Amino acid sequence: MPDSVLAAIAAATRRARHIVVLTGAGISAESGLSTFRGPRDALWSKHDPMQLATPEAFARDPETVTRWYDWRRINSLAAQPNPGHIALAQLEALTTARGDRFALLTQNVDRLHHRAGSRNVHEIHGSIHVWRCTRTGRDFEPPPEPFMRFPPPSPFAHDDPRAILRPGVVWFGEPLPSDALRTAADAMESCDLFFSIGTSSVVFPAAGFIERAIARGDITVEVNPEPTPISQRVAHTIRAKAGEWLPMLVTLV
Ligand code: OAD
Repeated sequence: MPDSVLAAIAAATRRARHIVVLTGAGISAESGLSTFRGPRDALWSKHDPMQLATPEAFARDPETVTRWYDWRRINSLAAQPNPGHIALAQLEALTTARGDRFALLTQNVDRLHHRAGSRNVHEIHGSIHVWRCTRTGRDFEPPPEPFMRFPPPSPFAHDDPRAILRPGVVWFGEPLPSDALRTAADAMESCDLFFSIGTSSVVFPAAGFIERAIARGDITVEVNPEPTPISQRVAHTIRAKAGEWLPMLVTLV
């Protein structure tokens, strides 16, 4: 990538009044967490999402589904934020310090953005660290060890052995949390610079955010080592790993 592209994006970043960043599984790949789609160890290459990531799968086989999400929960607790996560936290700090706005919308459920120091983070696909009682709807944050039983019994409904915990993530066929959708809509309303980082841009409604930014003529930047359906239409396509390119951007902002 010519340095002039990096310099142009850095200049746009310094000028922006409201930066919106959308991240996906690719930003956590350099922390050792698998992406969903991709050639090698991708989760959906090894597992059928319809057997693990739908309300029907949970109703049919809650043991298998909760074991798999608990395995991912423990993996993400063991993972560390990488230079890509940290660069985004730094970009937020630089942007808000000069009085401009910064919003991070993430499809990731691993909480690594929070752990890297990002503040205005919106987990639009929920969190793997918050589980929900199927009877009371109450949220529960499990301690940092694997559950002992699968499906995990609910701590809120001892009188009902059928009350269990489900992961607080959004499954296929479920709506996004309404507060996350509202925040995303608000952010998109006044955004003037949009970064799409580490996402295959195939899952809606998240993939629709960049479509909106492109349609409105915002400056759009995609950071992804592989092409995606939006690569041809964004203003800048950066074929690089997030953990390598984002720190270079931050040094120029
Ligand atoms: P995907 O696995 O679909 O896409 C990850 C993207 O990250 C791919 O396009 C990779 O090329 C790219 N990538 C890999 N390593 C990278 C790196 N070091 N830096 C930058 N990019 C890198 O993940 P998502 O787009 O997040 O939803 O998937 C969206 C949703 O589909 C997920 O939230 C999940 C999944 O099914 C649900 O489970 C509901």
